[in-house]
Amino acid sequence: MTKRTIVAMPGDGIGKNVLKESVRVLDAVGFEANYIHADIGWEFWCKEGNPLPDRTLKLLEEHKIGLFGAITSKPKDKAEAELAPELKGKGYIYYSPIVAMRQKYDLDICMRPCKTFKGNTLNFIRRGPNNTIEEPEIDTMIFRQNTEGLYGGVEWTNPPDQVYDALMTHKKFKENFAWCPRPELAVSTRILTKKYTTRIIKAAFEYAKTKGLNTVTVCEKPNVIRETSGMMLRIAQEMSKNEYPDIKVQDTNIDAQMMWLTKNPETYNVIVASNMFGDIISDGFAGLIGGLGFACSANIGPEVAVFEPTHGSAPKYAEFNPSIVNPIAMILSSCMMLEHICENEKAERIYNAVAAVVLEGKIKTYDMKKLSGNPDVFSKGAATTEQMTGAIIAKLK
Ligand code: NAI
Ligand code: MG
Repeated sequence: MTKRTIVAMPGDGIGKNVLKESVRVLDAVGFEANYIHADIGWEFWCKEGNPLPDRTLKLLEEHKIGLFGAITSKPKDKAEAELAPELKGKGYIYYSPIVAMRQKYDLDICMRPCKTFKGNTLNFIRRGPNNTIEEPEIDTMIFRQNTEGLYGGVEWTNPPDQVYDALMTHKKFKENFAWCPRPELAVSTRILTKKYTTRIIKAAFEYAKTKGLNTVTVCEKPNVIRETSGMMLRIAQEMSKNEYPDIKVQDTNIDAQMMWLTKNPETYNVIVASNMFGDIISDGFAGLIGGLGFACSANIGPEVAVFEPTHGSAPKYAEFNPSIVNPIAMILSSCMMLEHICENEKAERIYNAVAAVVLEGKIKTYDMKKLSGNPDVFSKGAATTEQMTGAIIAKLK
């Protein structure tokens, strides 16, 4: 078989620590690949005024599959302040490279699985009848629309004339916002298109069908956000009726869903949501199964696909030597990559090895021991990032 080429984008902070660990596991499982390093992140914003250099885009276009660690984003004023002196005042504007990558390659389908590992001391527990303790087994796949909605980037402070005039044609705007001086007005849009809304809902239905599940939950707020959430729910209901008669649509509101998260999370297996609500709900579910150290994701487009942990660059831990952070989220993201390229057997072996390490409970990173992240965590029995990877590799069958 020809060797795959994987574009490896460690990015910033702990992205650098965890990506190399996932490559160690991929090597150990016998996945034959060349990893080409690609530049992304804050360093390239500061040095070049571009956190996602064209050379990185070229590599992704050529090789189609990327593994991504994490990037650091900072607010507008900090971004300008840290730019190289020769680039300052030249009109460079910082944007999040991962958001830009999702939009550039139409990585519109974001999948975020949240599945309980038995024995994980971070698992959510609740009180059951007669004061019993229950530890529900959660197995939820969240489908998050990844390119549109509130993260679409169409926004203004002090909107230009045409935008302002258009807004003034809306009755509600005129009634409720016309009093505000324009320079004090900030507008972020929430644009959804039928095409991409249909694609994410379709992906959710297909997943449910493959897994033999009979419900897809649309988690939005259609009673208030009538146009966009309303469109999403309507498309899902029509799709259920016309194409998947055995799969019913359940409709939950994002706020209520966050409350139900701790009541009956095990009853949700497939959730579909727009960009920001999908981001929120997936973090909520991740909290039930071990938090950011366990939360993996796939960003899948028609051609390119990028796999990443959902955590960020955790800058305060980046320089710890040895590294303390949990590599499992990144390792599970690389499992999702293997599944995407039909290397299911290798993906399963890695997944089972992670499950075995967690169940055994001998090796735990600081987060799994509920310690706060300090360099002294090792004296309290925490494993290093490398030790966790080593334990997973040792369990590969
Ligand atoms: P973060 O996810 O980097 O860290 C939050 C906290 O979660 C950390 O302080 C740590 O306690 C814990 N944590 C994260 N990853 C962990 C791991 N692998 N093992 C153990 N514990 C872990 O989020 P934060 O602090 O809000 O953001 C830091 C930077 O990352 C910001 O610049 C932000 O913009 C960026 N970010 C980037 C993302 C991406 O690259 N996709 C996603 C989220 C944030
Ligand atoms: Mg998030």
